[in-house]
Amino acid sequence: MHRTGGEPPLLRLEDICIKFGFVEALKSVNLDINRQEVVAIVGDNGAGKSTLVKIIAGFLQPGFGHIYLNGEEVTIPSIRAADRMGIASVFQGQEFCDNLNVAANLFLGKEVNIGGVRDDEEMNSRARSVLKTLSSAIRVGSPIASLSTGQRQTVAIARTLLNDPQLILLDEPTAALSVMQTAEVLSYIKRLRSEGRTVVMVCHDLPDVFAVSDRIVVIRQGRISGVHRTVETSYEEIIAEIAGVATEHEYEEITESPKYGNMVRERKLIDRTMSAALDRNAKGYWAGNE
Ligand SMILES: Nc1ncnc2c1ncn2[C@@H]1O[C@H](COP(=O)(O)OP(=O)(O)OP(=O)(O)O)[C@@H](O)[C@H]1O
Ligand SMILES: [Mg+2]
Repeated sequence: MHRTGGEPPLLRLEDICIKFGFVEALKSVNLDINRQEVVAIVGDNGAGKSTLVKIIAGFLQPGFGHIYLNGEEVTIPSIRAADRMGIASVFQGQEFCDNLNVAANLFLGKEVNIGGVRDDEEMNSRARSVLKTLSSAIRVGSPIASLSTGQRQTVAIARTLLNDPQLILLDEPTAALSVMQTAEVLSYIKRLRSEGRTVVMVCHDLPDVFAVSDRIVVIRQGRISGVHRTVETSYEEIIAEIAGVATEHEYEEITESPKYGNMVRERKLIDRTMSAALDRNAKGYWAGNE
């Protein structure tokens, strides 16, 4: 692989292509993911965001291209293989077993056994410890059915931590969450980074993206149309890239479009810090939106 000196990136994608029948879902994607950063993947519906994450997660195989992990070329044939490489993922619509408790769901399919006997004590104690890493108050003995959507998302994220991964992939981690729950999940993501891990998250909610990411990758029609350091870009620039507008004239039109105009306006309304969320909650600002 080509190196420019220094440490190789945690993950490098080179010329990744994948087709579903005649649909070219990804067309020559090149991307470096570094250690201890949060990378947000944004783009319109059907742009290829989930497909990209599924390839890194070992859920889909690229038709062409190379993947390097810590500088070594790898294939990631399955989610289990990804797990062994230190890559963990949470996809949209994560399923749980409603009749089991939190600890049992965390260890679903990876139960800890001693001499063929399930070691509930060990699983409970490890479950407690990963939930503590996230500073979550969820009790390991609670039935999953009794948890809110946000708490379920917390359990899904906690589940990724069992194998102490270097890279955590989250597909729309804040979709369908209330403002308070979103603030909580965003704080977990920051915590994961502060522990030295890397998070790649697909997210269509730009306030969340700007609140938590170090870099923003824009995908449009299966290609990467821009990679930005979050502090060096703006909502307008990202939205224009998502929409695929290039000229100043077109750029003005995006605020006229109900879809993108709404996104531009939203950013003026939403401050996704915890204190702002608390403030809005106190004022009942989000009533009806929970
Ligand atoms: N398993 C599949 N079979 C056929 N086509 C697929 C499959 N998965 C994805 N596609 C197609 O590939 C393209 C990219 O899909 P993908 O799910 O990656 O988009 P996305 O950016 O995650 O969109 P969304 O925001 O709606 O989640 C779309 O045109 C989609 O219809
Ligand atoms: Mg998707």
